[in-house]
Parts: sequence; structure tokens; C-alpha cells
Amino acid sequence: MTPPALVVGSASPHLGRALAQAFGVSPVATKMERFPDGELHIEVPPDAIRGRRVVLLQTSTPPVGEHLLELLLLADACWRAGAASLQAVIPYVGYARQDRRARAGEPLGGRLVADLLSHGRFERVFTVDLHNPALEGCFGAPLEHLSALPLLAEALRPHVSDTSVVVAPDLGAVKRAEALAKLLGRPWAVVHKARLSGNDVETLGLLGQVRGMRPILVDDMISTGGTLAAAAKELKGEGCVDDFILATTHALLVGPALERLHGVPVKRLVSTDSVEPRQGVPFPHQVVTLAPLLLRALSPDAR
Ligand code: R5P
Repeated sequence: MTPPALVVGSASPHLGRALAQAFGVSPVATKMERFPDGELHIEVPPDAIRGRRVVLLQTSTPPVGEHLLELLLLADACWRAGAASLQAVIPYVGYARQDRRARAGEPLGGRLVADLLSHGRFERVFTVDLHNPALEGCFGAPLEHLSALPLLAEALRPHVSDTSVVVAPDLGAVKRAEALAKLLGRPWAVVHKARLSGNDVETLGLLGQVRGMRPILVDDMISTGGTLAAAAKELKGEGCVDDFILATTHALLVGPALERLHGVPVKRLVSTDSVEPRQGVPFPHQVVTLAPLLLRALSPDAR
């Protein structure tokens, strides 16, 4: 199989290196600069693109809009340079949490981003652990929705004991917790959460047996850490052992996240490299690369 031309966006250097190594290629050398008015100017070397299958990797971490636009500019440059086909790898899709309108007057951000991505002329889009799998229905191009749970389970296994319990920090994470519990052969529980704002949540109770158990909290993403910190508080109130492991696909860890999770206290965080690993995490942070999972999915004979 001829490896694709790999174009790596500026939001994904870590995963870009790992994926390039897995493919046995060097990423295409792109030029990016900012014009004085803030516009992004991009150039791809046409000879490296013309007639090739091009894989574009870009995740949508902050600044989310800028990174999404960069992906579309890269895709447009590759299309105009004569790429035979374009495939996008967007391990973390920003705005996916805006998959429904909680109140009248709100936009449907997830739908809008999926619509915008159709301008990339992607033959196929690859993503990992979307906030809501139903968002697939909004994408024009076929979506390969990959699961990082088996990779996370592998990394967690040495830390699982016969007192471990997998916990969903909210109702949206129940299916994920159930699947991880099955992979680890452990029971699961769920915390009932209500979101007060983008930064704050409250918990309203818990379902499952957790007294004397060691929780493994699992969620699709950690943004400000509010959800997991609140769930940990609820679990402590219900008599859990003060020994928290967190597992997540997208460890954004923005705003007060590190401070909040340090206070839990977290014994270990296991995440993927869907977003650039955060520096200065004050507890052990094990980062599992998505490169092998993506390599398999991007191999044409994988379908
Ligand atoms: C929401 O339903 C998501 O699954 C996460 O629980 C949430 O987005 C995490 O955000 P934060 O870390 O800011 O609480």
C-alpha cells in the first residue's frame, strides 16, 4: 500500500509525529504565516500533493474556530494542488457538545461545524469518541467514528483491582462507562449531574454500589474538570475510597481544570493524544497514542 501524503495542522504536532512514524513518512512541509490583519496564509508544496491520497490531521482545540478554518484552508490548498483524494482526521471535534438546543435562542453549533466541514471536500472524515455519536447524521461525508475505549482499557488494566468500580460522571457517559466496565470486567455506577454553566455543575445523586470501592471515572472529555471534580465529591460522600483514576479520550484540561483535579485528588489520569498533551499536570498523566488506531482505520483495506 502506498502511504498517503500526510498534512499535519498546527493543533496536532504530537499526534502528527506519531502518525507520520506509523505510516513511515515525513509530514508534508507546509508554510503558514499570519498576515498583519490576522488572516492565515497557507502554502502546500504542489509536487508533494498532486495525484496523491492526502490525509489531513487537525484537532479542534482552542482557538477552536481558528484551527477549524486552518483545516479548511489546508484542504482547499491541497484540492487546488491536484490531490487525488482528501481524508480528514479530526480526533476531537470542537462544538460537538452543542448537539442540541438546551434553550430557545441558542444555535446548533455541532450541526454548523459539520456543515462547514463539507467545504473541505473530504471523501471521508475520521474522528474519535464524538460527544454524541448521533452527530454523524449531520456530516455530509462518510464519518468513521472510532472508539479509543479499548486503548484506554489496555492502559488502565494494570491499575484495576477487585475493588475498582467504573463510574460515569453524568448520564451522557453511561454507555461509555458500561462499555469500559465490560472491557475491565468490573461493575459500574453513575452520578446524576446538572450543568449550571459552561464552568459549573452540580450533582444530584448516584446510582450503583460504590461504598469502599476505588472509582475509575470515565468521560469523553475533560474540559474545565468541573464534571469530574463534582462527581468525585459525590462519590466521597457515598463512601468511596479516596483513590481516583480518571480516563478520558480528550484531555483538554482548560481553565481551572488542573487545580480542580489536583484537589480531588487524582491518583492517575489516562488519556489519548487526540489533543496536544498538557504540560505541568500535577499528577501522573499517561498519554496513549491514537496513531495505531488511526493507521488501521486509514488503511484502504480496513473497510
Ligand atoms: C458533557 O456532557 C461532557 O461529556 C463532559 O462531561 C463535559 O464536557 C466536561 O466538561 P468539564 O470538564 O468542563 O466539566
